[in-house]
Amino acid sequence: MEGWWSTTGGFFLCLSASLVLQGRANTFTINCSGFDQQGVDPTVFQSVFNKKDFRPVTNFSIPTRINISFTLSAILEVDAQLQLLTSFLWLKLSWNHPFISWDPEECGDIKKLAITAENLWLPDIFIVESMDVDQTPDGLSAYVSNDGHVVYNKPMRVTSICNLDIFYFPFDQQNCTLTFSSFLYTEERMLLGMDKEVWEIMDDSRDRGRTKGEWELLGINKATPKMSVGTSLFDQIMFYVAIRRRPTLYVINLLVPSSFLVAIDALSFYLPAENENRAPFKMTLLLGYNVFLLNISDLLPATGTSLFSVYFALCLSLMVLSLLETIFITYLLHLATTQPPPMPRWLHSLLLRHASPRTCCPAVPQKENTSLGLISTHLSGLKEPGKLGGKELGPKEAELNGGTGLTRAQLADLWVQFGHMMDNLLFRIYLLFLATSVTTILVLWNT
Ligand SMILES: *[C@@H]1O[C@H](CO)[C@@H](O)[C@H](O)[C@H]1NC(C)=O
Ligand SMILES: *[C@@H]1O[C@H](CO)[C@@H](O)[C@H](O)[C@H]1NC(C)=O
Ligand SMILES: *[C@@H]1O[C@H](CO)[C@@H](O)[C@H](O)[C@H]1NC(C)=O
Ligand SMILES: *[C@@H]1O[C@H](CO)[C@@H](O)[C@H](O)[C@H]1NC(C)=O
Repeated sequence: MEGWWSTTGGFFLCLSASLVLQGRANTFTINCSGFDQQGVDPTVFQSVFNKKDFRPVTNFSIPTRINISFTLSAILEVDAQLQLLTSFLWLKLSWNHPFISWDPEECGDIKKLAITAENLWLPDIFIVESMDVDQTPDGLSAYVSNDGHVVYNKPMRVTSICNLDIFYFPFDQQNCTLTFSSFLYTEERMLLGMDKEVWEIMDDSRDRGRTKGEWELLGINKATPKMSVGTSLFDQIMFYVAIRRRPTLYVINLLVPSSFLVAIDALSFYLPAENENRAPFKMTLLLGYNVFLLNISDLLPATGTSLFSVYFALCLSLMVLSLLETIFITYLLHLATTQPPPMPRWLHSLLLRHASPRTCCPAVPQKENTSLGLISTHLSGLKEPGKLGGKELGPKEAELNGGTGLTRAQLADLWVQFGHMMDNLLFRIYLLFLATSVTTILVLWNT
């Protein structure tokens, strides 16, 4: 086609075709003789450079169309306290400059030139959410084609405000918005468009963003609502950037140690209640847990309530509760063996119905004259239901049930039994909580 035009001498029309299409007869062809021999003569571009302070249009009623695309090459930081997302992107702006055109055939087949961007008019595209001044480096160039198409690439470190919700931390996803708009050109002066589809931007960002940091890019969506300020409408393009946190670091550094401590605390229920080591052991664990919580405070988000903090608080409360329970059981057992208080009837019948018969009687004579520590081995059998199950003590139960007055030894024994029942109950609650929290975390992780 080019050949046909040049043979007919109509290449001049071809160069200015875009201008003609817009209804303008003016042409601004650059005389490029000698481009390939002496380099570019700056004087031929001088007329273009002189007009750089104004929007390059031949008719000011015609809006300039700016095409925007970007590559999100890194997500540098997400600050939940300040609600800021810091990312790095390569912004590509392209537009048509009607005052630039030359014939590549005359110019040694040069179709593209890099021109210092300072000498050209640049659109004032900014990111609405940005909370930082634009730190574009100096001395960038723009590519100018012979048909007046200008492509301007610039790197940007964007600190944008983003509504961060850390409830599901560290299994959270965030949806941040980057809105591109013009500072001062309303939609009659400037229109924004895209020369790439969003999925292409997404793919480029995935390929470029090789960082294996904390955040992973999930997807990019766009919307193009107009922004109205006062009476004027501004064209804008909104990109929704969805990112997800990689939770491994937090799982290894927070969840695993915490789970181990809680598991040990749960296992310490197997220490016999009569053993005087149980309470100090739990106290040590509690202390250890507090030190752990102090250590991890840097890793947790500083503001907002996350499920994770709630989990830690629950674990801590549970450990405190288990310590309190141990103190209570120790007190109860001590009371039972020294001066057992009278037992309410309902508690008595409850115990007879639910407690295992084995603890009822054989241990009684020992209990009266042995220290708590020594009988502990006997009572530890309580925790394993499989070991219980002698039915031969049934008649003795009946005897107890029928008799209105209990001997002191029997009363003591019942109280001990009650203590163990309480112990067992709390142990079950503990296990239930553990199972629930583990399931919750697994479910959250998988969604
Ligand atoms: C372009 O410039 C050269 C010398 O600079 C001149 O000889 C030539 O006539 C010019 N051509 C046009 C079309 O103005
Ligand atoms: C500029 O464009 C508007 C609308 O397209 C048109 O009405 C007007 O005549 C044009 N002005 C000139 C000087 O071409
Ligand atoms: C902008 O993109 C659209 C759609 O891809 C394209 O038709 C148009 O020519 C582009 N305009 C500029 C100035 O790059
Ligand atoms: C992000 O939020 C916007 C609106 O707030 C919504 O249209 C878009 O679908 C969301 N993106 C994702 C990936 O959730």
